[in-house]
Amino acid sequence: MSNKKIVFSGVQPSGNLHLGNYLGALKNFVSLQKEMECIYCVVDLHAITVFQDPKLLSNNILETTASFLASGLDPTKSIIFNQSSVSGHAELAWILNCVSRVGWLNRMTQFKDKAGSDKEKASVGLYIYPNLMAADILLYKATHVPVGADQKQHLELSRDIAQKFNNDFKCPGFFPLPDPLILKNISRVMSLRDGTKKMSKSEESDYSRINLKDSPDDIIKKIKKAKSDSEPIPENLKSLEKKPEALNILNIYSEISKNNLESVLKEMAGKEYSYVKKKLSDLLINEICPIGEKIKKLMNDRAYLMEILKKGNEKAKIKSDENLKNIREKVGLI
Ligand code: TYM
Repeated sequence: MSNKKIVFSGVQPSGNLHLGNYLGALKNFVSLQKEMECIYCVVDLHAITVFQDPKLLSNNILETTASFLASGLDPTKSIIFNQSSVSGHAELAWILNCVSRVGWLNRMTQFKDKAGSDKEKASVGLYIYPNLMAADILLYKATHVPVGADQKQHLELSRDIAQKFNNDFKCPGFFPLPDPLILKNISRVMSLRDGTKKMSKSEESDYSRINLKDSPDDIIKKIKKAKSDSEPIPENLKSLEKKPEALNILNIYSEISKNNLESVLKEMAGKEYSYVKKKLSDLLINEICPIGEKIKKLMNDRAYLMEILKKGNEKAKIKSDENLKNIREKVGLI
């Protein structure tokens, strides 16, 4: 077994990326590229587990690539490519479909949430989505996977699949068991309208999220309208236990201002939420708007974005072909 640390993560190209993607995942992607070999993937095959308009999908693949670059990913340090361009992902997913168990998939809460009340009508792809995720990670023998807290259960499944493969094919340590890298302070950014739900692309109201492409005016309006609390900011965390919206605003502020929550409370106790909201809008405009501007600029140069994906694809393919050859051998495929 090698001791090499390899980072893999993916983001779905299903429309506007938002503050949750940025704080929960992208920012961490950027800091990891300084320390380890990193592979970052626009997971277009995951996106089509629910229907995507083909024209929009192509555009969204490029826009997610642009968002990676605008957030600070450096294509000379990290491998950046789209999943469907490396056929090994789909091939390994099939092999892992035969390793993974129906009982394991039946426990996946994200499938239950996404499929809703009529599971019979969900695509088969949506059901086996976590197996494809395991394939993404194991295809590169990744050891570390930076994700938001919502992906934790899928990562545990990837570990179970890796372990079962190693046992079934009597090759201990062949697949490393990937470690999730979930940030402690801000692993789940919540909706600005409902502090019990995560901020998400699929929530109907645009007021529920800050998009990376939002204008300064949008940000001011959304933060102003965000739910918080009618009572002043408390001194201690305990008083925020039953106030998820207020906690969410303070959490986001704590992350963006790089101050821990305790010291934010110390500084702000007794003040109205309008006070923290004003400061938060200013900081968000400073950090997010330049990224949005870069995304828009990059989207005017599609040839450049295509070239980034092409180069990334070439590098990813070399690694994937080599690993897949060994995986096929283990399974006995000729
Ligand atoms: P996706 O596209 O839904 O989200 C991309 C990343 O953003 C994180 N995230 C959040 N973090 C904090 N708060 C939020 N409100 C929030 N919303 C999203 C997600 O946790 C994720 O890290 N299945 C994955 C993509 C994937 C993948 C992989 C990830 C496919 N293959 C292999 C890791 C490894 C997904 O749908 O992420």
